[in-house]
Amino acid sequence: MKTALVTGASSGFGLLAAVELARQGYRVFGTMRSPDKRGALDKACLEALVQVEVLPLDVTRQPSIDACLRALKTKAGRLDVLVNNAGIALGGYFEDQSDAEVREQFDTNVFGLMAMTRAALPLMREQGSGRIVNVSSIGGRVGTPGLAPYCATKFAVEGFSEALHHELGCDGIEVTLVEPGTFPTDIFFGNRRTAVAAARPDGPRRARFVAGERAVYDDMLHRNPDPKRVGEGIARAATEKKPKLRYPVGTDAQTASWAMRLLPARLWHFLVGQRFNAKAVPELAAVNAG
Ligand SMILES: NC(=O)c1ccc[n+]([C@@H]2O[C@H](COP(=O)([O-])OP(=O)(O)OC[C@H]3O[C@@H](n4cnc5c(N)ncnc54)[C@H](OP(=O)(O)O)[C@@H]3O)[C@@H](O)[C@H]2O)c1
Repeated sequence: MKTALVTGASSGFGLLAAVELARQGYRVFGTMRSPDKRGALDKACLEALVQVEVLPLDVTRQPSIDACLRALKTKAGRLDVLVNNAGIALGGYFEDQSDAEVREQFDTNVFGLMAMTRAALPLMREQGSGRIVNVSSIGGRVGTPGLAPYCATKFAVEGFSEALHHELGCDGIEVTLVEPGTFPTDIFFGNRRTAVAAARPDGPRRARFVAGERAVYDDMLHRNPDPKRVGEGIARAATEKKPKLRYPVGTDAQTASWAMRLLPARLWHFLVGQRFNAKAVPELAAVNAG
């Protein structure tokens, strides 16, 4: 039976991808820092009549990564698909994010993903096959104000994955990227995080940040209400016979991915600025003034 390991499966895309892969016949291991948080995953499994096994994992701690891979090897003996999905995002303009806050995002989204990849590769090499699905973001291709360090982590994931795709492809190990647009998951609600300085009510960039965030929320609920699309997109990237390097998922991500290829760069960047820049959007300018 083919085996998949999905990091960050306590909520959001990781949970949905784990359930979808189990539905498609994979033996799935879903990881979370604290297995006490497995309630939502268990409920989703019950509804879908599938089983996902839970392993504890903090991608920022090497001993935790080693223990997770050891447990997987003992239980399943193989790893066909690794979904590097665990991630965090801190909102706030760059000047309002401390060095520690920036590093925390890199530790999870970039170095955690690299460490998991490094730990999984020996098993895939032994088998002579495997697939690594890295969950990036359309923010890994389009820089978004209010999320500069987060976008930087996802740009790093894009470059890393593209290079790895070439390094490993000829050895039977495929690397693909899933690039979701904005979807309502816990990252915007229960797991929502704002840099300390960006949350200060009297901060000089606070109004612009809040207005931009609000615009993204409204857009998200309007364009991409159903995060299941991403769970299915991850499963597609994990199972498609001849995988593509990139899978943009969501109306916003697909539009951006086409537009940046078709439009002259200057026009594309102007449009992105119009879309996000509070000064250029009348209703956001009104919030700024307030
Ligand atoms: N939602 C969006 O609009 C969106 C768009 C583009 C890309 N993404 C990306 O999609 C991925 C999943 O995000 P989501 O939207 O599904 O958010 P989410 O519901 O908040 O899920 C994030 C998951 O990451 C896990 N996690 C965080 N830090 C971890 C660590 N140090 N070690 C292990 N696991 C950790 C969390 O698990 P525990 O806290 O339970 O350990 C949680 O299960 C992230 O990489 C995110 O950047 C999201």
